Amino acid sequence: MKETLSTLSALAKEAIQNCTTEAEIEEIRVKYLGKKGELTAILKQMGSLSPEERPKMGQLVNEAKQELEELISVKRGELKNAATELKLKAETIDITMPAKEVKPGKLHPLNTVLDDMINIFQSMGFDVVDGPEIETDHYNFECLNVPADHPARDMQDTFYLAENLLLRTQTSAAQIRTMETRKPPIRVICPGRVFRADEVDATHSPVFHQIEGLVVDKGITMCDLKGILEEFAHEIYGSDTKVKFRPSFFPFTEPSVEVDVTCSECGGKGCRVCKGGGWIEILGAGMVHPNVLRSCGIDPEEYSGFAFGIGLDRLTTTRYKISDIRLLFENDKRFLDQF
Ligand code: PHE
Repeated sequence: MKETLSTLSALAKEAIQNCTTEAEIEEIRVKYLGKKGELTAILKQMGSLSPEERPKMGQLVNEAKQELEELISVKRGELKNAATELKLKAETIDITMPAKEVKPGKLHPLNTVLDDMINIFQSMGFDVVDGPEIETDHYNFECLNVPADHPARDMQDTFYLAENLLLRTQTSAAQIRTMETRKPPIRVICPGRVFRADEVDATHSPVFHQIEGLVVDKGITMCDLKGILEEFAHEIYGSDTKVKFRPSFFPFTEPSVEVDVTCSECGGKGCRVCKGGGWIEILGAGMVHPNVLRSCGIDPEEYSGFAFGIGLDRLTTTRYKISDIRLLFENDKRFLDQF
């Protein structure tokens, strides 16, 4: 029995020495010291020994057990450390590596210009309102003094969705919605997308952007219109910019004007941007037609107002010297990254 014991413990020691993983060491512990282990089995045979031999043998087995337990715990510690070491090595971060470039999103040039315009008008006391892109004939034409057979309908080629439903051709529809829901004094701008069945080319797109402005109050005159729009043009293009009001026609304003500013590229001398003329048209405007006020339940004898519609795309392309309006809609990252 003594011999078996020493062979067993020698075998166990060797196994402990050679093992390389924590799982293996656990296997060894079970094999020799577990409930059904080989050393435990010796203790169970003690019954066959004489009463004098029993305590001696018992002591030997216990000593061997203790020794093995200690070896196992030491080896286990070693293996654990080695494993941690290995893991740390694998996870080392090389702080000398170049960092990944972070590319934050930025505003589309149209939004940058729009934000500037909103700031300018808000500083003059205007509210920003919103209107639907899908409009009814009623809001887009009828209430704006453009009845069904009016020739002015040909000025704007319309995308119809159904008999009475269309993609708004102008943000002017928001004038009506505002006058229906607010009482004068009214001072609002409504920026948004508008749609016309235009062929696509460098200066035309079937989708573009307008900012409609509307002021209604007692005693509003053409002077207020000129003052506000001149101020706006100076804020956007600089105070040296000259502003010209040309007579024009819109069915919903009377009188109507178109507003030109001196070309910011050449200062009015004439260049490629202004096609040699020295002036760039930036908006249409006029005194709100009495019929329009009336259709919204506002008495034109008591109140008057002016409205204007600014083309955001034109403003953006001239500000950034963008030669083709299509660039604003194509979402080419190489283009957008320049802003
Ligand atoms: N809605 C007109 C257009 O799209 C612009 C405009 C707005 C003119 C308001 C006068 C007053 O051409």
